Formats: sequence, C-alpha cells, structure tokens
Amino acid sequence: MSNSNPIGFFDSGVGGTSIWKEVIQLLPNENSIYLSDSKNAPYGEKPIAEIIALSKKNTEKLIEMGCKIIVVACNTATTNAIQILRQTYSIPIIGIEPAIKPAALGSQTKSIGILATKGTLSSKLFSKTSELYSQNINIIEVVGNGLVSLIEQGKQNSPEIKEVLYTLLKPMLDAKIDFLVLGCSHYPYLVPALKEILPADVTIIDSGEAVAKQTKKVLLENDLIDTSKKSSNHLLYSNADPKVLENLVRSQQTNLEVLIWIFN
Ligand code: DGL
Repeated sequence: MSNSNPIGFFDSGVGGTSIWKEVIQLLPNENSIYLSDSKNAPYGEKPIAEIIALSKKNTEKLIEMGCKIIVVACNTATTNAIQILRQTYSIPIIGIEPAIKPAALGSQTKSIGILATKGTLSSKLFSKTSELYSQNINIIEVVGNGLVSLIEQGKQNSPEIKEVLYTLLKPMLDAKIDFLVLGCSHYPYLVPALKEILPADVTIIDSGEAVAKQTKKVLLENDLIDTSKKSSNHLLYSNADPKVLENLVRSQQTNLEVLIWIFN
C-alpha cells in the first residue's frame, strides 16, 4: 500500500460530501474516492441487515479501487455496521456519530436537540453514547423524515424542505434547546434553511471536523499520510443522477478539481 493511495468515502448518497470536504480541507495532499450510493438512499429506514450488506458492498468496492483507509461518511451506516466492517476488513475504518458530547457539555438550557435518521436513533451504538450524556440533560430526538430524499433531489433550499423542518423542529423549540446536533451527514446542507427557522442563540453542530481530525490521526499512526507535493485527485462516483452530486460539490466553492463518474 502506497501513501499516495486514496482515502475512500461512502455514504447512502450525496450528504457525505459534507464530511469529505472537511477531511480534504484538513489533508489537502490526499487523493480521494467518494461513493454516493444514491440509488439505495435513504438507508435510515432500511432493516439493519440491509444497511450492513450495503456498507460491506461499498467498503469492498473502495478496497478494490485501492483505498488505504475508509471513512464511513454516514451516521446510519456507522451506528449499525462499523463493528462488523472493522471485524471483516483489515484496513483502518473511520466512522461518524452524532456529536452529543459537546452539545450536552455546552448546553446552558440543559435541553438539546438531535436530528438524525430512524436507523441512527434506534441503533445500539447511539443509545450507548446518548445514555452516557443524558444525565441532567433533556435530549429531544427527532427522526428527520423526508429530509434525505429531498436533499437527494437537490432540494436543500426549497420551500418544501423548510416546511418539513418547521414541523420537525417544533418539539425542540418548545423544549428551548440551545444546541442542535446534526446526526446525519446530509444535514449540514440544511444549515441555511435551519438558520432561518431557529433562534440565533441555538448552536448547530455536526461531526465533520471531528471526523477529519480523527482521519488525520489514524493516517499518522499508520504512517499513511501522503507527503508528496503534487496536485491531488478527487474522484466522486454516483449510481443515480450525477448532476445532484456535482451541483452540491460545486456549490461549496472549494478550489478542488473533482471528477464526477457513474458507478453501478
Ligand atoms: N447521510 C446518511 C447519514 O448520515 C443518511 C442516511 C440515510 O440515507 O437515510 O445517516
């Protein structure tokens, strides 16, 4: 395995590019491959066995493509499948989980909201983390029904999605949350819409930066950092309409050169 081999990412769709972007910004010399399994989105409502099977399929594809490390850029796949992935494959695997800890520790109102998929909120891994920080904190968990599908259609700023968000956030607003945890990698794309709805004193947090730091740490520990001075390659694959993926990545105004491809 050479250090110039790419970092592999996968998600149930386009949302994991929010994580991909953070990792690539922190590690600009790295090459990357991103799989957007949009054909099978959303994962969040699927049975655990199916989430595991899809996560294995994506991981194997990335390994075949020569990736040196895998970032599971999906909370639903992480919380339901990461243990099995780590038992099955020998390369380092990084996961993403909702950032409950900083929200619980930072909350003044002692009330925090978590927006995530059904698959994440009902997972054992999430319950374990949530229990750790739930003493003296009121945690309002809301399933983001409908959000992933709308983002997969490129509708993250539509009136339709704002209407869905108003309804989903109501119990959190009623409970006077001061932190909203985005527990799905698609949701950072909702921040502009969320800011229109939430009071200014609600802090919105996601796990992108933490995943980027963890990826760097694990690459360093395994002596896998790419130190060659060259321009990096970023290949992004979608198995649905590649335009949605392309528009989302281009809207982030990074100067990155990316190539968008289709996979089966
Ligand atoms: N981006 C995925 C996550 O982080 C979305 C899950 C889904 O497809 O439902 O959970």
